[in-house]
Amino acid sequence: MGKILVTGGTGFIGSHTCVSLINAGYEIVVMDNLCNSKVESLARVSLITGKNPRFYKTDLNDYKEMCQIFEDHKIDAVIHFAGLKAVGESVKLPLTYYHNNISGTINLLKVMEKYGCHKFIFSSSATVYGENNPVPYTEDMPTSATNPYGYTKVMIEQILKDVCTSNSDWKVISLRYFNPIGAHESGLMGENPNGIPNNLVPYIAQVALGKLDKLHVFGNDYDTPDGTGVRDYIHVMDLAEGHVAALKYANSVNGFEAINLGTGKGSSVLDVVKAYEKACGKKIPLEIVARRPGDIAESYADATKASEVLNWKATYSLEKMCTDSWNFTKQNPKGL
Ligand code: WQD
Repeated sequence: MGKILVTGGTGFIGSHTCVSLINAGYEIVVMDNLCNSKVESLARVSLITGKNPRFYKTDLNDYKEMCQIFEDHKIDAVIHFAGLKAVGESVKLPLTYYHNNISGTINLLKVMEKYGCHKFIFSSSATVYGENNPVPYTEDMPTSATNPYGYTKVMIEQILKDVCTSNSDWKVISLRYFNPIGAHESGLMGENPNGIPNNLVPYIAQVALGKLDKLHVFGNDYDTPDGTGVRDYIHVMDLAEGHVAALKYANSVNGFEAINLGTGKGSSVLDVVKAYEKACGKKIPLEIVARRPGDIAESYADATKASEVLNWKATYSLEKMCTDSWNFTKQNPKGL
């Protein structure tokens, strides 16, 4: 059996997926340019699994370096996590996002074509459902975006569909993640953002740690049960297992398939705060402030397709997600 190339494998979801891949018996090769993650993540993967995956510090856009990986290893499939993913930053730096995410993916696909590797699992996002689809989201709904980051995901999915149309050898699964949170239960790995977190749970974690003084709740006047935003939070290890299931399914895929990876359940900001307070045993001070531009009221998955075709379902509760997030945070107060 060939090896699995994990691009962006030192990132939050990528590193957790490395653990699940190794535990499932795959031999993996990891590449990352370390612009938004640390190679220490791989040391933690080794601590957990006892394996030392080969690592290449390189950039998706470096054709020669990417070819070297395929010269050195027989790559059977690629799981493609590498990409910039901050919505706000993408509005300020659209060309950086389009170059890194789209040109980088095109370069990767060209290298795969050159070496006859046609099995591809793409890290997509619920963000492709845009603002006009009714929840729960199903994979056949139209995609759209409201920011350059979201557009990179929409455009890459289109590129993948067109590549599959041009050559029937391609087997592509686009996994649309909802809101990944939590950490490996060992506390050795977790979400490790640089600077002030944009996302809810890593921000709450810093408040619980005492590094930030309170959570700003972006609006409580949405048309939701308690007025705060509702999202489909999914444990990062559930997400990781979803990738192993997708890799097995990829053998029977012809062309392009999109699959949601979510729990199918929505939780509000205040639900998450309550779960986190239970997990860390502390009160999370908060202040209701204005809505964040671009936010939608509700986003959660119809998770039927994943359960039918991947025989995969999310298993962890919101409380377990918060407990594991807190366990990592208190063990790594300064991050990795
Ligand atoms: C969740 C909820 C906020 C922070 C984003 C990207 C998406 C994906 C996941 C990459 C919302 C509220 C948040 C805070 C708050 N990323 N919130 N105070 O916006 O659903 O999704 O991350 O793929 O593409 O769009 O996640 O965690 O930022 O927000 O009240 O300090 O928490 O309004 O309702 P989001 P989030």
